[in-house]
Amino acid sequence: MASRPVHVRAPGKINVYLGVGPRHDDGYHSLATVFQAVSLYEDVYASPSDAFTLEVDGDVDVSGVPLDDRNLAMRAAKLLAQTAGVDAGVHLRIRKGVPVAGGMGGGSADAAAALVACDALWGTELGAHRLHELAARLGADVPFALHGGTAVGSGRGDELTPALARGRFDWVLVLSEQGLSTPAVYGQLDLLRAQDGAVADDPPMSLDVPLAVLQALRAGDARDLAPALLNDLEVAALVDRPDLTSALVDGIRFGALGGIVSGSGPTIALLCDDPDQARLVQDLLRDTGRTALHVHGPVPGARVMG
Ligand code: C5P
Repeated sequence: MASRPVHVRAPGKINVYLGVGPRHDDGYHSLATVFQAVSLYEDVYASPSDAFTLEVDGDVDVSGVPLDDRNLAMRAAKLLAQTAGVDAGVHLRIRKGVPVAGGMGGGSADAAAALVACDALWGTELGAHRLHELAARLGADVPFALHGGTAVGSGRGDELTPALARGRFDWVLVLSEQGLSTPAVYGQLDLLRAQDGAVADDPPMSLDVPLAVLQALRAGDARDLAPALLNDLEVAALVDRPDLTSALVDGIRFGALGGIVSGSGPTIALLCDDPDQARLVQDLLRDTGRTALHVHGPVPGARVMG
């Protein structure tokens, strides 16, 4: 067992495409999605301990993060200990760079990082396949945070197929002070779909990621990807947060090629042509008083840092 803290870094994600199918009896919706891991990170430090304890700090507002068993990283550590028969605890320190309740999978990244960190700390060597299984039990987005890069997600979003993506994509994120609840946004979409004519698209019976999305990623072509960006949850997020529309409109007015709500929101992701354009869009958005961040993707999934 290691005696020094193990440091694992895991990325936040953007759903470049998010098609939402019908709701199933377990409360989950079937998805056809494309995730891209971006350069906004959660850093998790795991130290030996007899008990399971947690502290959280970071660059973003962490006041809403639970420190008990509601925390996904804590659940991840306990699940791994139970599965691998480890008779020890861990102290986890989480340094958050991904906005809390922002639609970028920050909590899922914490869980993925905690799995990898505890696996290294305890020397359990579960291997990628079993870690993926544990990740999927913790939450739909956790396997992708392990995997990173660019990947197609089906099922609940946890069945992953790597997607080819050439080069780098530059994104400007517009952060919100107030988060959104993922279950509430999915619930809002169900309500809208139940109202005749409220949204054009009833849940599609068969879900597929459009070829245009995959081709644009494969070609590394942001100009082709921009018009193909789509998020079925966007309309539901905008019901609660009409202010997000102006961030999307301003981003495009300032030169972004296109934009979407990230996951269940409220973070906005604006796709730019290159780093220079992204910096310009970021600066102009900041001039309007918004919190804007230039990031790029794809980046690797949860990994031990040297
Ligand atoms: O799996 P996770 O805990 O991240 O999901 C949070 C919530 O998001 C679920 O409880 C569910 O309400 C909603 N969700 C869904 N369909 C999915 C993924 C998430 O309805 N495929």
